[in-house]
Amino acid sequence: MTPLDYEFLRKLLKERSGLDLSSDKQYLVESRLIPLARRVGLAGIAELVAKMKTGSEALTAEVAEAMTTNETFFFRDKIPFDHLRETVLPELLRARANRRSLRIWCAASSTGQEPYSIAMCLKEFASVLAGWRVEIVATDLSQAVLEKSRAGIFSQFEVQRGLPIQMLVKHFTQVGELWQLNADIRAMVQQRQLKRLQDFSHLGSFDVIFCRNVMIYFDQDTKVGIFERLTKVIEPDGVLALGAAESVVGISDAFKPYPERRGLYRPNPVRAARAGATIMPLRAVASATR
Ligand SMILES: C[S@@+](CC[C@H](N)C(=O)[O-])C[C@H]1O[C@@H](n2cnc3c(N)ncnc32)[C@H](O)[C@@H]1O
Repeated sequence: MTPLDYEFLRKLLKERSGLDLSSDKQYLVESRLIPLARRVGLAGIAELVAKMKTGSEALTAEVAEAMTTNETFFFRDKIPFDHLRETVLPELLRARANRRSLRIWCAASSTGQEPYSIAMCLKEFASVLAGWRVEIVATDLSQAVLEKSRAGIFSQFEVQRGLPIQMLVKHFTQVGELWQLNADIRAMVQQRQLKRLQDFSHLGSFDVIFCRNVMIYFDQDTKVGIFERLTKVIEPDGVLALGAAESVVGISDAFKPYPERRGLYRPNPVRAARAGATIMPLRAVASATR
């Protein structure tokens, strides 16, 4: 791959998906994009770049998808899901008792193991949640992973990673050598493509946001921007869960660590108060300062 082609791809991926490739990741780009080029009948990266330069949107989307890392597994890192069950859900159930609704967003849901792990946790609260409007929205940039996620069919290897055996027995049906998640759990998760983590205001407001193991691929400015925009779609008492290698600390003051709950964050109340002051109607400001 020529340095010019690499620069073109680096820039395009940054704009398209926020992916931050350092200058020494040519091997990664080649290992993902040469098979893609061959599959679409092109000789290699040079031809792929030339075709993308003609403005082929479908090809550009395929390139962005091919460069994503989709590694995931059920109840990944375990602790965030323990916190969800033991602290976050019980607190939210009390706080939303009048409203009787709960919205959870899984912002980089890959092949579904994460949103379905959340759904299985919620199922444990089924009797308390009877009559509530509960939504789990799972989004990802990649259409391919969303299709796999919607099918809810997992290999023996996939169900052996992180999924407690009792959950496998309770929520899955064996189909030959594969395991299909039962329809009641699948129905709890709405799956939507979200091409960029740039604009998600249309998704509405959430009580819990899982945005795990995706920020690691972004540069500092992109992360700051995403944290900032997340504050606009999270309830003031909502909870943000990040991956084990991710944090807001030292990057943004939009969120504060949730005390003694590693990996969880809450909107910074100081910032929220300041934002509230900014949007106070002028008449109210005038009377408040009189
Ligand atoms: C490593 S997986 C993490 C999956 C899951 N959150 C977990 O922690 O197990 C990262 C996912 O983020 C998605 N992704 C990458 N860049 C994205 C972007 N800009 N917008 C939305 N999703 C993105 C990828 O397609 C991939 O499925």
